[in-house]
This record gives sequence, C-alpha cells and structure tokens, in this order.
Amino acid sequence: MGRTVPTIGLRPYLPADAAIVAAIFVESIEGLTGDDYSEEQQQAWIAAADDEAAFGARLGQQLTLVATLQSSPVGFASLKGADHIEMLYVHPGAAGQGVATALCDALEKLAAARGAAKLTVDASDTAHGFFRKRGYVDQQRSTISAGDEWLTNTRMQKTLAEAPPKGPIQ
Ligand SMILES: CC(C)(COP(=O)(O)OP(=O)(O)OC[C@H]1O[C@@H](n2cnc3c(N)ncnc32)[C@H](O)[C@@H]1OP(=O)(O)O)[C@@H](O)C(=O)NCCC(=O)NCCS
Repeated sequence: MGRTVPTIGLRPYLPADAAIVAAIFVESIEGLTGDDYSEEQQQAWIAAADDEAAFGARLGQQLTLVATLQSSPVGFASLKGADHIEMLYVHPGAAGQGVATALCDALEKLAAARGAAKLTVDASDTAHGFFRKRGYVDQQRSTISAGDEWLTNTRMQKTLAEAPPKGPIQ
C-alpha cells in the first residue's frame, strides 16, 4: 500500500491566527536555527513576537499566507509591498515536507501578479540554502541588531519569470 502524502493547504492570514502564528515563529526559531545562531541570538530574534498583538498587526498589514496540514496551521509567509518576502517560518514538526515551498510558490505568483519583476528576501543563515535552491542570488551580507544581539542574514534576489504579453486571441 502506498503512503498517503498529506496535502498542504494555503489560506490568507486572519487576525484570529495571531497566537498560533506567533507560536510557530517561536518554535521554528528554537527548533530549526540552532546550528546557525546562538541561544542568545535565538532569544533576541524570538522577542519580535513578545507583543503578540503588534506581531499579528504587522502580519495583517502585509500579504500573509498561512499553510495548513490537516487544517492545522504549520507555517506562514508574508509579502511586504510587491516585492519583498518579510517572513517565512515553518513549525519544526512540519519541516521538510514542502510547506515552505508551497508558501514561496504562492508568494512568487502573487508578487508577479502585483507587477513585481524581482523578489527580495533577507534570508537567515538557516534559510539561505532553501532560497538558493529556488534561484535566489546573494546580493549582500548584513548584520542586524536585535536587543543586545547581532544577527547575520543575506539579502537575496530572484528575477521573476515575465508574464506572457497580453495580446489579441488568435
Ligand atoms: C527554511 C525553512 C522555511 C524551510 O522550510 P521547509 O518547509 O522545511 O522547506 P521545504 O520542505 O519546502 O524544502 C524545500 C527544499 O529545500 C530544501 N531545504 C529546506 N531547508 C533547507 C536549508 N536550510 N538548507 C538547504 N536546503 C533546504 C529541502 O531539502 C527541500 O529540498 P528538496 O525539494 O530537494 O527535497 C524552515 O527551515 C524554517 O522555518 N527555518 C527557520 C526559520 C527561518 O530561518 N526562516 C527564514 C527567515 S528569512
């Protein structure tokens, strides 16, 4: 008998998702970034979700998608403006199952629909390999401050495929 592959669902972020999405953010950082960042750096990063209402409001202002497995949220991603991926976080229990791929596929299509020719991301050292695999190219290394800590990331950019010109139907 074949193994059933769970279907990844995608839906827009709702204000009621703030708590679950903040929890995914925390667990994703704690569970997946330990090879690249120290515990102090992880805690400084996590502090961005200390004020859950502000964190949720920030996501609500962006184009944020929630990924689900069997209807439960397991990841989220947000597009700031037309052409910048601001957040991408997957719960460790759902990592390696294509959740981030589904989120990025959708954000890239939405960005193209908003008229973006390229998409940028400040990729964490943990996510760098994921984005490189998707065709994002390094632009510059940066060090950002979070509380008393400094965290490195890489500005990466991908050129989006041009939409075919709209012409008269032959
Ligand atoms: C990076 C992250 C989003 C990837 O999520 P994911 O759902 O596990 O990724 P997917 O399952 O869609 O992976 C797709 C492909 O990328 C590869 N991949 C995933 N994470 C990778 C990594 N850190 N380095 C290199 N390749 C990676 C997978 O092996 C897979 O390859 P395959 O298609 O050949 O099997 C997840 O590890 C995460 O949330 N990290 C912590 C938070 C973080 O750093 N967010 C980024 C902020 S910019």
